[in-house]
Amino acid sequence: MISLLKRLVRAGFSSVGLDVHRIGRPHVTEPAQPQALVPDIPRAILRPKATYAPWLADAAFNGIYEVIRPHTVVDLYRCYELWTLASRLAHLPGDVIEIGVWRGGTGALIAHKVRTVAPDRVVYLCDTFTGVVGAGHRDTQYKGGEFANTSVEIVDELIARLGLNNTRILAGIFPHETGAQVTANRLALVHIDVDTHDSAKWCFEWTWPRMVPGGATVFDDYGIQGCDGVTRMVNAICEPDAAVIYNLNGHAIVLKSPVSPSNIISR
Ligand SMILES: C[S@@+](CC[C@H](N)C(=O)[O-])C[C@H]1O[C@@H](n2cnc3c(N)ncnc32)[C@H](O)[C@@H]1O
Repeated sequence: MISLLKRLVRAGFSSVGLDVHRIGRPHVTEPAQPQALVPDIPRAILRPKATYAPWLADAAFNGIYEVIRPHTVVDLYRCYELWTLASRLAHLPGDVIEIGVWRGGTGALIAHKVRTVAPDRVVYLCDTFTGVVGAGHRDTQYKGGEFANTSVEIVDELIARLGLNNTRILAGIFPHETGAQVTANRLALVHIDVDTHDSAKWCFEWTWPRMVPGGATVFDDYGIQGCDGVTRMVNAICEPDAAVIYNLNGHAIVLKSPVSPSNIISR
């Protein structure tokens, strides 16, 4: 009887073009479209069950987010995560680097929070300002040169509008052309949003040895279709002091273990 009722309700909604799903259905793993699949990266439509949305009650975040939104391609969930991770600077020594700034949205968001919790720290904002680099055979969509529609002036204007004085813009390929300009020898937060395998690898290899215990590297585009090179790069991380967390939102967070690698017992 109940199942007949359900079918009738479904049919009723379906006749007006609507689909009915029970919210909170466990283990939903509908396969993504076959053409989206690459052999080493299985895909499904993800529908996490959590409904907690703390950004709705965070007035400070919402105020800044409205300003930076036209300057970013990063969605609300990932922006909020960067905002909360930046607050860890209150308890950690070290500076911040973002590689992959484009028009400055996420960089300005991070810098704004850092200025509140640790005003003495520097937020380095690194971009070629001529587009994506490092595309190769591990990347399925990127060819190089994407996101060239920006400039140092666009980012400068956003930074000035937010009244930030804790940023340094470094123009050029990181780390080859700009790494030497980073005077910080300790990093607490690194945001790598560079879209290709090799570029993500260069950035991680340069920044990880400078990361303080407890610090975090955030990889944007992890798991995002079309950014398979980044997913592959993160999946190959095998540093013993790196805890890699897949956050299901297009971010991988890599936490630096406070335990020295030399203290880890090998089995
Ligand atoms: C997706 S955009 C960044 C988006 C930005 N975080 C936002 O808030 O929308 C990727 C950027 O990475 C930059 N990029 C890629 N590899 C780089 C590298 N090795 N050094 C500097 N910039 C790089 C590109 O120039 C491009 O502007």
